[in-house]
Amino acid sequence: MNELDFAGKTILVVGGSSGIGNGIAQAFRAHGAAVHVCGTRNEAADYAGEAGSDLDGLHYARLDVGGPDGVEAFQPAFDRLDVLVLAQGTVVYRRGEFAMAGFRKVLEINLTSLMACATKFHGLLTASAGSLIIVSSTAAYHATKGNPAYNASKAGAVGLTRTLGQAWAEDGIRVNGIAPGLVDTKLTKVTTDNPKRLAGAIANIPLRRLGTPADMAGAALFLASPLAAYIVGQTIIVDGGLIL
Ligand SMILES: NC(=O)c1ccc[n+]([C@@H]2O[C@H](COP(=O)([O-])OP(=O)(O)OC[C@H]3O[C@@H](n4cnc5c(N)ncnc54)[C@H](OP(=O)(O)O)[C@@H]3O)[C@@H](O)[C@H]2O)c1
Repeated sequence: MNELDFAGKTILVVGGSSGIGNGIAQAFRAHGAAVHVCGTRNEAADYAGEAGSDLDGLHYARLDVGGPDGVEAFQPAFDRLDVLVLAQGTVVYRRGEFAMAGFRKVLEINLTSLMACATKFHGLLTASAGSLIIVSSTAAYHATKGNPAYNASKAGAVGLTRTLGQAWAEDGIRVNGIAPGLVDTKLTKVTTDNPKRLAGAIANIPLRRLGTPADMAGAALFLASPLAAYIVGQTIIVDGGLIL
């Protein structure tokens, strides 16, 4: 038996248009799944040529989770769902998260929308005895001086993962999470495009390299597979040793 064979399974990756979510989406596709992804742009073609956005072979639909009606109004193009991956996320730099508009925006996208998406698909995940995977961050485990909202949202995401894991186990849904360290995506350009900052960041990573979306995908495939059948409410840190 190949526990990592997802043929016949349907996966949705919210935030699957780019970066970590996109890497996770392509990994599930490579393992046989039918994979749906969402991002903020109108159509898949709007991502053409973007680094970190490979929508080949994925079903794309627009979903902006930033507004109150975004998730509730969303009409999925499938009626069966085995794995829901929540990889949407944003950050506001230049002290924007110290202003309430910035703080609220980041909390809405990074935390509240996780609950909205989880709730929306609870029925389909119950029907399939499926799996929910929440992407948080190693930022959940230490202070991030310039980004109070990002930090609070990610700490909240780890807590939500635990609590939904406990609450929905009885529905047959396994809820777990991934906490990436530093991965080169459009979210982290502020670090990776600055040679001095990049060198400083890599010096702090015991494996001496940035993480890749594929590194995160390995953990996602494992968590969604029968290999993780007895794992519930856990967030796996995938950071090359960064926060050790
Ligand atoms: N990169 C890292 O080092 C790192 C570390 C720890 C945790 N993370 C987390 O990993 C997740 C993925 O981030 P990433 O690094 O892969 O960055 P990314 O390439 O910018 O991907 C972010 C994804 O979230 C989507 N998104 C952003 N705002 C949204 C909104 N309002 N509604 C719906 N979708 C929205 C983006 O859609 P568009 O493509 O349309 O913008 C994109 O698909 C995030 O939760 C992030 O916090 C990243």
